[in-house]
Amino acid sequence: MNLKSSITSRKSESDTKQKTSMAQRRWRLLAHALTRSPEPSIDIENEEISVRRFTSFGLVEPTLLENVPTDSESSWYKYSCVLENELFIAEVRRICKTFTANELIGFNNTGNVCVWPSEECLAYYLLKNQHICRNKKVLELGGGMSCLAGIFVAKYCEPASVTLTDGNITSVDNVRCIVARNSMEEFVKCGVVQWARAATALRQTANGSRVKTWISHGGDESHRTEELYDVILSADCLFFDDVRLDLVETIYGWLNDDGIALMMAPRRGTTFQKFSEAAVKRGFFARHTERYDAKVWSRHLELLQPGHEYSIDLHYPILLELTKQRKTSPI
Ligand SMILES: C[S@@+](CC[C@H](N)C(=O)[O-])C[C@H]1O[C@@H](n2cnc3c(N)ncnc32)[C@H](O)[C@@H]1O
Repeated sequence: MNLKSSITSRKSESDTKQKTSMAQRRWRLLAHALTRSPEPSIDIENEEISVRRFTSFGLVEPTLLENVPTDSESSWYKYSCVLENELFIAEVRRICKTFTANELIGFNNTGNVCVWPSEECLAYYLLKNQHICRNKKVLELGGGMSCLAGIFVAKYCEPASVTLTDGNITSVDNVRCIVARNSMEEFVKCGVVQWARAATALRQTANGSRVKTWISHGGDESHRTEELYDVILSADCLFFDDVRLDLVETIYGWLNDDGIALMMAPRRGTTFQKFSEAAVKRGFFARHTERYDAKVWSRHLELLQPGHEYSIDLHYPILLELTKQRKTSPI
């Protein structure tokens, strides 16, 4: 090997090593970001990626439950919310294992973070406005690892029924454990709902007289029901460009004509707006509210002060309420 090719070869070796160690660092950071609890701020000098992120408005506080038997992959937390001197509690399982590459890059796994700020705000809002779900059939879509809003609704808002869903089986299995731990198996259903699949089923049957719905309750078992819902909830699910229309269609197909969908999500660029426009095109009235709660708004104003890692665009959940204009054909 001559000097030039030896230098080139050493350079490419060092490039490869650098790339590998960068990939490893990215991987470590991602895994750390998705699995540690409480979710930390990581600020490693000279790291190219920062995963420091805002995680909570402090409305619902998690405390580790020391005495609950756990396995090596999970721990239990008490999520508490105090409202007008009344304490609301739900016990929530957090998965602490390191996710495999497949689990991270397979079907969307953003829900592996236990509770996103939008879910926290939605849970808080529903506890404060318990009449919304009272005696109503409630469905949560994309509820992630905890479905915290739906769990609090089931426990405290006297709904007629609650169905908690996500597209990710790991999330749904975790939610099932949470439902059991909070002794709600009798009246809370859990199932995998992937919006593309649900929307396809709904589009196929929309021209018939009865709208059929589809929920998979785990494994290969799946069934169709003709149940419609009075209240559909979702938190931070509006930024998926490829399934935007499917999510709109799923909500449209499963919502009673006089029902309401309550969705909380940050603006995240144009994604919130695009979702809202798609919903209106489908036949919904859409109402956006920024100041839906005085306490959430005051936390938001505090967080805007210097020293907080907080971005309105990425973190402040806006409330989107969808109600039906009239029955129209599917998109
Ligand atoms: C940002 S997370 C929000 C999770 C939860 N609502 C929260 O705020 O804590 C988005 C959720 O949407 C789910 N999701 C993404 N794409 C989906 C799809 N096509 N069908 C069903 N669920 C999906 C993910 O699995 C994830 O749990």
